[in-house]
Amino acid sequence: MTAFKRNKRSSYLEWAKLQSVAKYNLATSGMMSYPLAELPVTMADLEINGPDTYGYPPLVERLAARSGVAPECVVTANGTSMANHLAMATILEPGDEALIEQPTYGLLVDVAHYLGANVVRFGRRAENDFAIDLGELQSKITANTRLIAITNLHNPTGAFTSEATLRRIGEMAAAVGAWVLVDEVYLDLVPLGEFRSPYRTCARYGPQFVATNSLTKAYGLSGIRSGWILAEAGLATRIRRVDDLMSGSPVFPAELLGVIALDNLDKVGARANALLAANRAALEAFLDSRADLDVFRSRWGTIAFPRLKTGPVDAFCELLRGRFETSVVPGRFFEMPERFRIGIGGDRAMTAEGLARLGAALDVFGQSAGC
Ligand SMILES: Cc1ncc(COP(=O)(O)O)c(C=O)c1O
Repeated sequence: MTAFKRNKRSSYLEWAKLQSVAKYNLATSGMMSYPLAELPVTMADLEINGPDTYGYPPLVERLAARSGVAPECVVTANGTSMANHLAMATILEPGDEALIEQPTYGLLVDVAHYLGANVVRFGRRAENDFAIDLGELQSKITANTRLIAITNLHNPTGAFTSEATLRRIGEMAAAVGAWVLVDEVYLDLVPLGEFRSPYRTCARYGPQFVATNSLTKAYGLSGIRSGWILAEAGLATRIRRVDDLMSGSPVFPAELLGVIALDNLDKVGARANALLAANRAALEAFLDSRADLDVFRSRWGTIAFPRLKTGPVDAFCELLRGRFETSVVPGRFFEMPERFRIGIGGDRAMTAEGLARLGAALDVFGQSAGC
């Protein structure tokens, strides 16, 4: 007889894969696709099989060097999604307490439930610009806390968590022997000048930190699924053992492409930055023009998470998609149903038109609500 029933689905991913697509798609959080043709790669650079049992060594070495950690602390993974899953599956036993920010990227909560963890939440509040409240976090930590999980940049708001705050969280976690999982999938979108060290990752702040990342969201390279975990060497070894349960070996051509992408990351990143600068200006102008939205504005990243003042968000999203061919993510997927998430990582013209349509839909919605 089983004592508990595992969660075996993610309503957000199901929605994102099956229902989010629209002509003007503001529902994605990643940068638009980076074309293969713009990478200096030829057929001669690719191969089907190669030495990648636990990650192709040149890829692991590059990831270690850019992160300022030893190669044995790097585990390659199928995107940040699998990186999160592997890290959580290694750390959490059924019944362990997983302390997860709220709101957050739904998959973190879904996977913790799938693993049978006892999920406890700490709030990130609009009145506090969605920053982590260290007092509240401390009050939720118990002797049973095994994992504290956050996203940096924060999904769904784009809020940035500083090194000082992360180090304090690390101290709180260390006091009870917990790990701190930081999903850094959007962190490369923050300019290097905001960091004290060029390595950006929290993996260098102490052995209790586990960082996950990939080349997917910040660089528009989602298709090669090049992701990784940075963890203290002992935990990294245990993560590889869990990975043995899930996959025979990585996809070798994808790891080759990961190496080529990393060697050309300045160029790939420059395109993302230029596109985001233009789209952020369009988003700012749009938000300036809307009294019906209440929003925290992050300086970085691809997303904003406004509160709709004029009526139910699900009904608004239906109108937006049905009449205006535009999609955003309803806030219920982030446990804040009065909000919706706007993504600005897409093509410039598409994003500008999507924002214009969002504005037109808000006008119609507000009128029908008598606002
Ligand atoms: C916070 C966060 N982590 C992970 C992912 C998934 O990343 P990947 O595509 O690298 O698997 C997403 C995708 O939206 C995300 O928002």
